[in-house]
Amino acid sequence: MSNFGRRKFIAACAAVAAGAGAGAYWWYRGRGMQGMPHGAGPQALGGEFPNPLRVPAGEGVFGVLDADAALDIAVKKVELPIVPGKPAPLLAYEVAHRRKTYFNPVLRLKTGASYTAKLFNALDEETIIHWHGMLVDARNDGHPRDAVGRGAAYDYKFKVANRAGTYWYHPHPHGITGRQTYLGLASLLIVEDEEELALQKALDLTLGASDIPLLIQDKRIGDDGFLRYDKSEDDWFAGFLGERILVNLTARPHFNAATRIYRFRILNGTNARVYRLAFVRGAERLEFHVVGTDGGLLERPYRVREAFLSPAERLDVLLDLGAAAPGDTVMLRSLQFDPMHLEVAGDAEKGHDMSRMGAGAAILPDGAAFDIMQIRVTQQTRAAGSIPDRLSAPGAPGMTQGMPRVFTLDQRERRWRINGLVFDMHATPVTVKRGASEIWEIRNAKASMPHPMHLHGFQFQVLHRAGSPEQVRRLAIDERGLAPPDLGFKDTVLVWPGETVRFAVHFSHPFDGDQVYLFHCHNLEHEDRGMMINYRVAT
Ligand code: C2O
Ligand code: CU
Ligand code: CU
Repeated sequence: MSNFGRRKFIAACAAVAAGAGAGAYWWYRGRGMQGMPHGAGPQALGGEFPNPLRVPAGEGVFGVLDADAALDIAVKKVELPIVPGKPAPLLAYEVAHRRKTYFNPVLRLKTGASYTAKLFNALDEETIIHWHGMLVDARNDGHPRDAVGRGAAYDYKFKVANRAGTYWYHPHPHGITGRQTYLGLASLLIVEDEEELALQKALDLTLGASDIPLLIQDKRIGDDGFLRYDKSEDDWFAGFLGERILVNLTARPHFNAATRIYRFRILNGTNARVYRLAFVRGAERLEFHVVGTDGGLLERPYRVREAFLSPAERLDVLLDLGAAAPGDTVMLRSLQFDPMHLEVAGDAEKGHDMSRMGAGAAILPDGAAFDIMQIRVTQQTRAAGSIPDRLSAPGAPGMTQGMPRVFTLDQRERRWRINGLVFDMHATPVTVKRGASEIWEIRNAKASMPHPMHLHGFQFQVLHRAGSPEQVRRLAIDERGLAPPDLGFKDTVLVWPGETVRFAVHFSHPFDGDQVYLFHCHNLEHEDRGMMINYRVAT
C-alpha cells in the first residue's frame, strides 16, 4: 500500500498519536503570541507558503559547486532578501569559480579527491571555517585557536577521507560561532562515492532537481527584514530560539514537486532548536525512508513517520510522491514535543520554561508545532525506480563492550559544563591513543536540557540509549533504545535530560604527531559559553 493509498487508516492513527503526545503545559505558556499580524508573528501550523524555495543548483545563493580546483572563499557582509523585497544584511561565504559567483555554495566532493581552499576574512572580527564531520587533521579542522583576524587568510588542504554523505561547514571562532552562523555563515558539503552514485542511478536522483538539500534554521526577523541576534542572559543559558523558520534562507517556502521519489538532505543548521520532523498530508503522517545520517548512507532504508533532528545533525530521507496527484500538497512539519527544559538548581520557579524566559517579544517556544515547508505536487511524471533494499556496507561497529570513558553534562551558575569543565583554549583534559577503540558514555543530568553533543575529527557509532524520556523511547527500533537517526556513522548525538548515551569511536587516522580536536555541545550558545573541551589524539 502506498502512502497515498492508505490515507484513512493513517489519519486515524495520527489522531491517536497526537492525543497521546507529551504534556502540553508549555503550550499554554506559549500563548500570548496570538493576534500578531499575519506573516509577522511566529511560525505556526498552516498559513500561506508563497515563496519558492531556494533550491541548491546552478550558481548564486546555495549554488552547487564541484570543488575540483582550489577555491578562494571570502567571508563577508552581503545583502540578501530573506523576506521578499526586503534585502537584509547577512554574512556569507562568497566564492568566484570558473566565472561564476556563489554565496554559501553547496560544495560537492569525491571520496579520495584532494580539497584546497583559501579563506579570506573580510569581516571586522576573527573567523575560521570548520568542515563539520570531515575526517581531517587538526590543522585543517578550523579549531578556534586558528581563527584569523580581519584581512587575514587561512589555507586548507586535505584529502577527502569521508564516505559519501551530507556534511556541512560553518564558522568556529570562540565565543562568536553562534552569532556568525546565525547571521548566515553555513552551507553543505556533499561527498560522493561509488555507493552514492549507485543510489543516484537506481532512483534517477539529481542534486538540485530530485535530490534537495534543506538547511533548516530559525531566526528572529525585524520589521525591516533584518535578522536580530539580540541575546538575553536567558538565551545564553537555554540557547537562542527564532520565531520564523527558514529553509535555505527562504521564509515560508514552497517546493514544486512531480509524482516521483524525492531525496531531502535535511540539515538542522539552527543555533539551538530541536525539530521533530514529519511529512504531513491533511491529518495523515506520511511514511518516509531514512537512508542516511551524519556520516553517510545506512545499510538499508528505514521506514519512519517522524524523526527528531537536533542542531548539526543531518537526516537523508526519501519521500515517495509516486502515488500523489497534481494538486496534492504535503507539509514538512515539526510536531509538538516536550522540550524538557527542566528546572535547574537556582531556578526558583517549578517547571520553569526556559524557552520563554526573557522573551519580551513573541518567541516560538521550543517543542511547539509548526509548518516548515510546503511541497506542492504540480506535475505528473513516470515513477523512477523503487527504493533499493540495500544501500551501503558501512562496516560493523568497533568495540561494543568494555570500560567507557565517562562525560557528565550539567550546569553551575548557569554555565553548562562537560565533566565540570568549561572551555579553556589551552587546556586539553582528555588524551586518547591513536588507533585505540573507545566507548564514550555521555550522562546528562536529570535537571538539564537536551544537548546535541558533537565530536570533531572522527565519526562514531551510537551503541545504546538508557534512561530515555518516553517520547524518545517509543521511537526505538531495537533493545539498544536507538531510532533510525541514531544509526550509521554519526558526529553529533542528542542526549536528553536524564539520558545516558554510549558511542564507539575508533581513533584511527593517517596523521602524525599530536592532533587536538574538540568535543562540544552544538547548541551554539552553550558552545560559545564554554560547553566544549579539547581532546588530544597522541601516539
Ligand atoms: Cu559543527 Cu565544532 O562544530
Ligand atoms: Cu564539527
Ligand atoms: Cu548544550
